[in-house]
Amino acid sequence: MIKEGFGTDGLGNAAELVTLSNKNGTQVKISTLGATVASFLCKDKNGIMRDIVLGYDSAEAYLEHNGYYFGATVGRNANRIKGAKITIGGVEYQLEANSDGNNLHSGGNGVSHRLWEIDDMDEEKNSVSMKFFSADLEQGFPGNMKIKVTFALSEENELAISYEAVSDKDTIANFTNHSYFNLAGHDGGYIGGQKLKIYAKHFTALAPVGSIPTGEVRAVKGTPLDFGEFKEIGREIDSDYDQLKYVRGYDQNFLLENDGKFTIMAEAICEETGIHLYAYTDCPGFQLYTANFVDEHKGKDGAVYKERHGFCLESQYVPDACHNPQFQNPLLFAGEVYKSRTVYKLGLD
Ligand code: BGC
Repeated sequence: MIKEGFGTDGLGNAAELVTLSNKNGTQVKISTLGATVASFLCKDKNGIMRDIVLGYDSAEAYLEHNGYYFGATVGRNANRIKGAKITIGGVEYQLEANSDGNNLHSGGNGVSHRLWEIDDMDEEKNSVSMKFFSADLEQGFPGNMKIKVTFALSEENELAISYEAVSDKDTIANFTNHSYFNLAGHDGGYIGGQKLKIYAKHFTALAPVGSIPTGEVRAVKGTPLDFGEFKEIGREIDSDYDQLKYVRGYDQNFLLENDGKFTIMAEAICEETGIHLYAYTDCPGFQLYTANFVDEHKGKDGAVYKERHGFCLESQYVPDACHNPQFQNPLLFAGEVYKSRTVYKLGLD
């Protein structure tokens, strides 16, 4: 395990970068700024090393482009909350209204953009744990919360991300990782030719404005959101379909119906590199996001990124579930331990 400097958080505090590697030459680099997956390197079918996640070369660059959440741990609540308000135990809490009057990814300057502390580096488990203390009412959420995220890389090329959180008041806990994958390499450009398979029969339909689920659960069958068999991400991305038009492509939440059991959520393949991604989670669903709102700018090693240069598979609760009783609520009771796990595994075809 290697630990090196990664710039600063803008306040003069040093960010660190920890590298996990295995015998296959796969490497994962995690930054303490935002507990962020900064690189995920593996050999492609021709033995060429590819870094399959978008990112930047320093903590400063992550802060400069913080609205994209590249690779970041997102919480305390991933995705959107309508009206940027939540009511817990009869008390209303105001959150930051940072997206069309709604709260997105808990607002700026939260866990995704702050320095985490390295808690543990375990050579045997090939893992690094990072911890963050989020004080009562930080970002508007009640309760002092202790958060821990562990990243472990196995010899089977699995990157396992495990979350743990505990609060001293009833609150919300809904964490995700916001990696943007490009299986042709982070500098591989448009992801439309890469194929996706999704293990979900339903998604939550969005309102025309604000990307908030209406409460309607819609079947994927017969819609461009049907990835029941492998299909190019770009094949129907520009279809004349309301849900795609509202958000300029894929940015919807799929329901896994897994009863909290650890299950596969999606697979993706890139024929050119042979890299095959398998994604698993115990969350009730996940957001597929095709980087629709990423403007052209420079990323790692001078690569130029723009819209549709990556796709995210963000395991989480249904967005705005705290206002939709038919969906599982991300409520965490005081003293209870929130636990969740997501695995991104790489194979070669
Ligand atoms: C959301 C997008 C948002 C992006 C970057 C995704 O998780 O679904 O709507 O633009 O994050 O903030």
